[in-house]
Amino acid sequence: MEIPATALVLLIGAAGSGKSTFAARHFASGDVVSSDQLRARIGESESDQRANEDVFERLQALVQDRLAAGVLTIIDATNTDWMRRTALIGMARHHRRPVIAIVFDLPLEICLNRIAARPRTVRAAVVRRQVSEVRHDRERLDLEGFAAIYVLASTHEVEGASVDIKKGPVVRALSS
Ligand code: UTP
Ligand code: MG
Repeated sequence: MEIPATALVLLIGAAGSGKSTFAARHFASGDVVSSDQLRARIGESESDQRANEDVFERLQALVQDRLAAGVLTIIDATNTDWMRRTALIGMARHHRRPVIAIVFDLPLEICLNRIAARPRTVRAAVVRRQVSEVRHDRERLDLEGFAAIYVLASTHEVEGASVDIKKGPVVRALSS
């Protein structure tokens, strides 16, 4: 995957699809804005869904600052809601930053098994809805304005993925 160093990267996938694991492996932690960490700070726990709207507002504010600064930003959230994706893409467009999607389209059973094996649980009905949203939205993603869409459709593809962060041309002022 080629990712421009000024890009906004949306990880898109159900709970348990491996977004945070992928982010930790391929990106510097300071470049990752995670909805779960924000939720833990605002709400009572990382699984507190009531804080959802506050979390998204806080996430947007952080992303806004990073877009203005032109630094690589990875959004580690499910991003299964097309209206939220649209809001984030609009912000990036305003700052003329490319938006890249990395889609984790993994089977429901894998997501559920992984969640069962970790401390933080998510209700099965919620995961089922997210998995079907990801699958359903794969085609409409083409129309949402991403500069590139990378779909990882198996654990094999996730494991084999490599990320290449492309620095753009260095702009130097002409000395007078
Ligand atoms: P993650 O915690 O990375 O999933 O992986 P996620 O997509 O970020 O989930 P949410 O949206 O925050 O809820 C879930 C579990 O699966 C394991 C991780 O160690 C974690 O316990 N996992 C993930 C694997 O075993 N292999 C992988 O390739 C990825
Ligand atoms: Mg996560």
